[in-house]
Amino acid sequence: MIKKAIIPAAGLGTRFRPITKTFPKEMLPIIDKPCLEYIIEEAAASGIEEIILIISDKKAMIKEYFGNIFEYQGKMIRIGYAYQEEQKGLGHAVLMTKDLIGNNAFACLLGDDMFVSKTPALKQLIDVYENNNGTILGTIAIDKSDSNKYGICDPLDGESGKVLRLKGVIEKPDPKDAPSNLAISGRYILIPSIFKYLETQTAGALNEIQLTDAILRQMSEVRAYAYKIDGKRYDIGKKDGFVEATVHFGLSRDIVSKEDVKKMLKK
Ligand code: G1P
Repeated sequence: MIKKAIIPAAGLGTRFRPITKTFPKEMLPIIDKPCLEYIIEEAAASGIEEIILIISDKKAMIKEYFGNIFEYQGKMIRIGYAYQEEQKGLGHAVLMTKDLIGNNAFACLLGDDMFVSKTPALKQLIDVYENNNGTILGTIAIDKSDSNKYGICDPLDGESGKVLRLKGVIEKPDPKDAPSNLAISGRYILIPSIFKYLETQTAGALNEIQLTDAILRQMSEVRAYAYKIDGKRYDIGKKDGFVEATVHFGLSRDIVSKEDVKKMLKK
C-alpha cells in the first residue's frame, strides 16, 4: 500500500520568469486554486494519506497556504515539509525527504506535469505497483525530437503492452541517443533504497543530481517498469501549457460557466 507521497516544490522556476522572481511557481493559480493544489488533490484521490512538500525558505507562502492538514472529500491528508536550500537537482530534492519516508514504497509527483484522467494518474501507477514490485515510472509518448527535455525509458527487448520492464533510463538524451519515445512524466513509485543511491549520486545532465541516474543505478537490485499513463497531460511548467490547462479547467470546472468561456473563445 502506498500511503506517502512527496512533491518537490523548491525549484527556482526559471522557465516562468518574471513572476517567479518573487512568487513560487507552484502557487500560480489555475483560475482559483494554486496548481500545487490540483496535484495534491490527485494524490489524495489516489489514496495518499501523507504528503511531504519539498520547499525552500523562499517558498514560505506554500506552507502558509497549505498548513499541516489538507481536507479532501472529508478525508484529512497530513502535510509535512522538507527543505532543500540549495537547488542541486531533482535527485537532491528527493534525498531531502529521506528521514521522513521510512521503509515503504512511496509516490513522487512533479508539479509541472498535470494530468486530467478518469482514474487519477497516480492511482494508475499504484495499481501497477500492486502487480509489479519495483520502481514504477509514469510515462507519456513524445516526439523523439523532444527527448532532451525528459528522462527516457529503455525497455527490455521483447516487452510489449502497457507495463514495460526496463533495462535502463537516461536523462535528457539527444534524440539520436534516445532508446525509445517513452518519457518519464512526473509520476513515480519509488522504493526507499533509492536514498542510498541518491546519497552517492554525482551530477549528471545539466550538471544536476538527477533522480533518473539514481533510479538507473538502483536497477541493479530493484526492477523498474514504465507505465503509459491514461489521460491528458498538461505541461504547466511551460507558459503555453499553462494557458492550455487554464482553458481546459475554464471549460470543465463548474465554478465558471462553460458556455460563457466557449462563447468568449469563439469570439
Ligand atoms: C524532470 C525529470 C525528467 C522528467 C521530467 C518530466 O525533468 O528529471 O526525467 O522526464 O521532469 O516533467 P525537468 O522537467 O525537471 O527538467
